[in-house]
Amino acid sequence: MSDLHVGFPANRAIAERIQPVTPADWLIVAGDVGEQAADIEWVLGTLTERFARVVWVPGNHELWTHGRDPLRLRGEERYLHLVDVCRRLGVVTPEDPYPIWTGAGEPVVVAPLFVLYDYSFQLADLPPPGDGLARTAVSRAVVSTDERWLHPDPFPTRAAWCDDRVTKTERRLAELPPGLPTVLVNHFPLVREPTAVLRYPAFAQWCGTVRTATWPARFRAQVVVYGHLHIPRTAWYAGIRHEEVSLGYPREWQRRSAAPVIPRQILPAAGAVGSS
Ligand SMILES: [Fe+2]
Ligand SMILES: [Fe+2]
Repeated sequence: MSDLHVGFPANRAIAERIQPVTPADWLIVAGDVGEQAADIEWVLGTLTERFARVVWVPGNHELWTHGRDPLRLRGEERYLHLVDVCRRLGVVTPEDPYPIWTGAGEPVVVAPLFVLYDYSFQLADLPPPGDGLARTAVSRAVVSTDERWLHPDPFPTRAAWCDDRVTKTERRLAELPPGLPTVLVNHFPLVREPTAVLRYPAFAQWCGTVRTATWPARFRAQVVVYGHLHIPRTAWYAGIRHEEVSLGYPREWQRRSAAPVIPRQILPAAGAVGSS
């Protein structure tokens, strides 16, 4: 699951009800739990008491230094602080050894990734990428709030932070044993295709990087798990299953005819399971 956004009371109520189906279940939390560090710690702490293992990656909202959060850390320091919180709780982060899931079927490496975005998902008719790109988006009335709250410190730009993350992450994935399939988990989609259905196409530039496009095939993904778009669905790209597992904002899920499915079953691949 992803995008719990527990700052909204209706979402917090859903988070409180999330339960495993069996005591052996693992839970993937693919970012955007919330903006406030205390909320993130509370949610992850609660989930570790229920699931055999919890695997977390940061979303852009976890990385915000929001004006109302007493935790004032910015950028990488904030991320590493959250990693420390997770380690205290026993939650697996992108900085830990990738765990191997040995449930039904063959063993699978579950790889939590933190790759960010570098504006390279921009539309072809927009000028070249860079953090100054916000200006172009303004003219189209779409700007991610990240431009205000997600600081890249100590990197000069969010694109530079992304570059660092891509390099480090790619190295680790390349070191995995070649025989093992993977579940690749990232807050942002690893391929550009899912952004084609965004309501505001200009928002795509805050949604990933073209540099991960080959990763699902190269690193033997059985499934790619992502969120961020708030468009939950299953799609297949180049024969690989991609699961967008978000809850999203109440104004989004409340207007759909079906109740949100949180969490969704990733492996074994057998459709979705609901919350209790
Ligand atoms: Fe989100
Ligand atoms: Fe997000």
